[in-house]
Amino acid sequence: MVNKLFLIDGVRKFLLYLIARMLISFFTLIVGLLRHQYNKGIKKKGVYQMERTLVIIKPDGVRRHLIGRIIQRFEEKGLAITEMKFATMTKELAQEHYHHLSGRSFFDELIDYMTSGPVVYLVLAGEDVIDIVRKMVGATKAVDAVPGTIRGDYALPGTENIIHASDSRDAATNEINRFFPLFDTKKQKSEIVHPE
Ligand code: PPS
Repeated sequence: MVNKLFLIDGVRKFLLYLIARMLISFFTLIVGLLRHQYNKGIKKKGVYQMERTLVIIKPDGVRRHLIGRIIQRFEEKGLAITEMKFATMTKELAQEHYHHLSGRSFFDELIDYMTSGPVVYLVLAGEDVIDIVRKMVGATKAVDAVPGTIRGDYALPGTENIIHASDSRDAATNEINRFFPLFDTKKQKSEIVHPE
């Protein structure tokens, strides 16, 4: 009789132990799943919030074999390259791109220069990428461009100033759509992978 009672007590304790283990495993699983979903949400949010800018390595930058060195600066900074294209700008596209300068004395010279040879178009992405890239590019005029900036290191006085970068969010959107007309924003968002 005493033995039987001990046996029942032992079985009961074992069952309680099993239930406790199952409950712990269940809650561990739920916490893991919730954490996974949360991390996925954060990653998605980061990608969706990424700002983009358009950069053009101008014909003199290409002629002077500076493509690699310029792209290296952006990569070393940690910016993501999401689009890249090598092509000669048509007169129509150049005039559209610089339409706000059409009244300026240097307009024709600028259009001739920008269509004088192939350029490299880049779309860069990252937090505050528009301002960061403008700072990396440096001042328009070579004489004002601080050493350490792209123009400060490579540009000489005159029209040829190596590189263009969008100066605002509106400009970036317009310029990306102008030079990458097939750029499908919704599709791209899910494909962008930011470098670790
Ligand atoms: S301005 O004068 O304030 O409108 O200049 P800025 O906004 O800095 O430059 C606009 C673009 O025009 C180019 N630019 C010139 N090209 C040829 N000759 C002269 N004198 C000249 N001045 C400005 C300048 O390189 C800018 O080109 P992007 O491609 O936007 O950098």
